[in-house]
Amino acid sequence: MSSLLLYCRPGFESECAQEIQQVLAAENVQTQILSGLVVCHSDTDVDLMAQTDFQHLIFARQWFDVIAHLTELNTNDRVTAIVQACQPMRNRVHEVFIETPDTDIAKVLTPLCRGIGRPLDMALQKAGKLQKNSPWRLHICFTATNEVWIGISDRHNSSPWQMGIPRLKFPQDAPSRSTLKLEEAILVLIDRKQQEHVFKPGRRAIDLGAAPGGWTYQLVKRGMLVIAIDNGKMDPVLMATEMVEHQRADGFNYKPQRPVDWMVCDIVEKPIRVAELVAKWFINGWCQHCIFNLKLPMKQRYAEVQKCFTLIDKQFKQKKIDYHLAAKQLYHDRDEITVYLRRDNKKQ
Ligand SMILES: C[S@@+](CC[C@H](N)C(=O)[O-])C[C@H]1O[C@@H](n2cnc3c(N)ncnc32)[C@H](O)[C@@H]1O
Repeated sequence: MSSLLLYCRPGFESECAQEIQQVLAAENVQTQILSGLVVCHSDTDVDLMAQTDFQHLIFARQWFDVIAHLTELNTNDRVTAIVQACQPMRNRVHEVFIETPDTDIAKVLTPLCRGIGRPLDMALQKAGKLQKNSPWRLHICFTATNEVWIGISDRHNSSPWQMGIPRLKFPQDAPSRSTLKLEEAILVLIDRKQQEHVFKPGRRAIDLGAAPGGWTYQLVKRGMLVIAIDNGKMDPVLMATEMVEHQRADGFNYKPQRPVDWMVCDIVEKPIRVAELVAKWFINGWCQHCIFNLKLPMKQRYAEVQKCFTLIDKQFKQKKIDYHLAAKQLYHDRDEITVYLRRDNKKQ
C-alpha cells in the first residue's frame, strides 16, 4: 500500500483529486478529500511519486509520499512519536518542512510548528536521519495539535517552498497586489536559468488587461519595454519610468505592429476565449512567451482547464508549432490558474 499527500488551495480539493486520479490512472488510485489536502491511495507498493512529474500537476502546490499518519499524539511530547514513526524511513533527509494545510487551522498551528522545529531537528540528527545534500526531504504536516501526516519528497520533484508557497514581499511602489501573482508565476513556472535567458533588459512585452499595472511593473523591473493595453488608468509612477506605452484598446482585437518577446494577459474573461486569444498570438508569431490567467467557472473547473489546453494543443499541432506549457494554481491565484506558454523552436 502506498499513499501520497497533496496540498492545494482550500475549495479546490476535488480538482486536485480529479487531476491526480487522471495522471495516475494506470495505478487505479483512490482519493480521499481533506481540508486543503488530498490523500491518494494505491493498493500496490508502486512508487507513486516516481510515476509523475510534479511540474505537470496544476492543482497540487506540494506533495509527499506518506510514511505515517499519527492521530492522538501525546501533546506533551510529540517529538518522540514522530521520530519513532520515521524509523522505517530508508533514506536520510537534507531538510525538514514543518507544515499545515493552507486553511484556518494554519493560524492555530503556527506556534506549534515554530516551536517543534529545533527539538525535532535535534532528535532526528541523533537518530541519524539527517544528511546534508541528500535528495530527500522530510515533511511533517500537522492537521491538528494531536494529528500529523509524515512523509518524504524528492527535492527535485516537489516544490522547494514550505506548503508550496513562496513567501513574497509586496513591493511598496507596485500599483496593485496582483503584481505578486506574476512574480510567483515567474518563480514557479520558469526555472531559474531560463528566467535569466527570457527576461533580458531591452526586450519587448505587451500586457493585455494591464491596468493599473501590477504585471507591467514586474516586466519593467526586469528592464523590459512594455505596451500596456487597457481602457483603464495606468499607475502614474509606473508611467514615469518611460518604459511603458499605454494604449486604450480592446485586448481581444489588438494587433501588435511587430512581434514581441512576451505577451501577458490578465483579462477577466471566459477561459476558452482567453485560450483562443493566446493561441492566435502564437499562430501569428506575435510572441514567443506568454503568461496568462484562466479565471475558472464555479463548476467543472478541471474540465474547463482541459478544454482550454486541448484547444491550444489542437491548433498548435495543426500549425506544427512546438511548445512548452506549464500551469499552476498559485498561492496568489483565487478562482483561477496561471499558465506559462513558450514556443519551442526545435532547430535552435
Ligand atoms: C484583473 S485586472 C488586471 C490587473 C493587472 N494585471 C495588474 O496587475 O494591475 C483586469 C483588467 O483587464 C481590463 N480588461 C477587461 N477587458 C478587457 C479587454 N477586452 N481588453 C483590454 N483590457 C480589458 C480591465 O479594464 C482591468 O483593468
